[in-house]
Amino acid sequence: MEYAHNKYIKKYEFGNPYDTGAVVARIDKTAGIPDRFRFDAETDTFSYTMKEKDMVFGLGETVRGINKRGWIYVSNNSDDPVHDENKTSLYASQNFFVVDDGKDVFGVFIDNPGSVTFDIGYTDANVLSIHPEYNDTSFYVIEGASPLEIIRSFRELIGKSYIPPIWAFGYGQSRWGYKTAGDIREVAAGYKELGIPLDMIYMDIDYMQDFKDFTINPERFPDFENFVKEMKTEGIHLVPIIDAGVKIEEGYDVYEEGKANGYFCKKENGEDLVAAVWPGKVHFPDFLNEEASRWFGEKYKVLTDAGIEGFWNDMNEPAIFYTEDHLKEVFAQVKEFEQKELDIWGFFDFKDVVGSIANNPEDYRRFYHEFHGQKVRHDRVHNLYGFYMTKSASESFEKICPDKQILMFSRASYTGMHRYGGVWTGDNCSRWSHLLMNIQMMPGLNMNGFLYSGADIGGFGGNTTEDLMMRWVEFGIFTPLFRNHSALGTREQELYRFDRKEDFRHLIELRYALIPYIYEEFIKAAEHNGMYMMPLSFVYREDERCREIEDQLLAGEALMIAPVYEQNKTGRYVYLPEAMRLVRFRAYNDYDTEVLPKGDHYIKAALNEVLVFLRPGKELPLATPARQVDRINRKELQRISF
Ligand code: GLC
Repeated sequence: MEYAHNKYIKKYEFGNPYDTGAVVARIDKTAGIPDRFRFDAETDTFSYTMKEKDMVFGLGETVRGINKRGWIYVSNNSDDPVHDENKTSLYASQNFFVVDDGKDVFGVFIDNPGSVTFDIGYTDANVLSIHPEYNDTSFYVIEGASPLEIIRSFRELIGKSYIPPIWAFGYGQSRWGYKTAGDIREVAAGYKELGIPLDMIYMDIDYMQDFKDFTINPERFPDFENFVKEMKTEGIHLVPIIDAGVKIEEGYDVYEEGKANGYFCKKENGEDLVAAVWPGKVHFPDFLNEEASRWFGEKYKVLTDAGIEGFWNDMNEPAIFYTEDHLKEVFAQVKEFEQKELDIWGFFDFKDVVGSIANNPEDYRRFYHEFHGQKVRHDRVHNLYGFYMTKSASESFEKICPDKQILMFSRASYTGMHRYGGVWTGDNCSRWSHLLMNIQMMPGLNMNGFLYSGADIGGFGGNTTEDLMMRWVEFGIFTPLFRNHSALGTREQELYRFDRKEDFRHLIELRYALIPYIYEEFIKAAEHNGMYMMPLSFVYREDERCREIEDQLLAGEALMIAPVYEQNKTGRYVYLPEAMRLVRFRAYNDYDTEVLPKGDHYIKAALNEVLVFLRPGKELPLATPARQVDRINRKELQRISF
């Protein structure tokens, strides 16, 4: 670790903070209570009285708007597919935020891997409070003249963001339910036939033998290695899923080795915890134990040797369908209920008992890690699990395939994981409100270093519609991770299945035309600890109006985007903080443009039209699209300038 040169960061410590791996620079600690905060030692609560104009940005992957003020957020990685506004926890814990009243601005990072509650004006409209469940906390306060300056300092503290291979900026098709090589060939052919560019097809859990990590079902995928090659000649990378739980099955090498070496998470009595996920009963590898982590990471070699160059790590909160121990308790209680008459309260109690099977908070207290040589109960470091799973894989890639750049992203995350991989935002739904949520999540993710991120385009759960899909693609064009994914049993949403095939082709081609721009801006953000997707107020500091804009973003240094995210709308209001050149794209080579003055505008955008606003003095380079990213000529570019 090196000393951070940045004199604007102060670190305070409470209790015995864990070395979480979030931070890469050393900062000497300052004694006392963090600047600007009060501390109530009885309740372990830090509080700050918000000024009237304070807005709060950050916290990464959370519900609600870009300005987080007015709700309560709990960093407690949760496998919860219902991303309603009233949820407090999703899959990620990214504990950095910025408070900004337009002039006075500061940042806070809470390095605590257990549950942390950020009450941002929920209990008391004017108070921002931070309450770690276990107050073993490194509390960082970052000062600076502007949000972007503070974000740069913070990112110097946590290290540079992961950069995926360039093909990972292409379009990817995924679905839970592609069962065979044949199914995947069909998807590739469907896209090829219509000339819709495609770089990746994702393989969900069905490719495995009985959902066992690092196995391939030989009946569904005979001669897997050749299949990987065949797809590569089509220009397509196959990207398999890896789940956290290891199936308990005698003779299965991952299980046997993990068991023999004591690499699984153990209960108080020293026995391996038995939980259940897709494969049925599983053990959880102890990714926090260095040796176990090294061992699991090297298992990816089974797939990299077969030519695989990308992965998504899933169910790594970890998600628990049930534990063997709690299931016994539930069955015992259910027997008791069987003898009783269920009145209304009895009915609710009964429902609670049965509903307590999955992701039960008590279950997260039943097992332990060996972390830096110490036995640590899981709930104290819960939010590190997905981070360390991804770190385990990423560190092993340097050994098992040093010449390759590997695509890696994860569902669960914690600050610091951004050095090892990206994230997708989990099981959203095919709802218009979730398209807006995708737009609003991007700045928080970027602030926390998760530049390579995106949502399931079209929505994972529920049935999508053609217009929702089209509007979502129109926004997804700008997100670094651009993947269409949906759940088993939902309406099929590969783009070639819809009526407006040409429109979809034009939109995906537009993404490919924009790749030189998107990639360059992404790399700039990664290298200079900046943001690729930003709220307007981070740049237009003097413009009061920008402070409340929740549905327009800056994408890189040249563009502002204003996606349409409502049903049956053929236009929208857009606020321009300065004169800009509107480019209304129907295709990369079919657009009209117009210079618009600063101010409010109602701008038409038919269902197949994408609104892009070019800032003064900037240029938008456009490539000629190709079927895959690698085939794009990134040197020969047309330019739209303003
Ligand atoms: C989880 C993932 C989802 C995946 C499914 C089956 O719900 O979030 O993306 O399709 O598991 O593996």
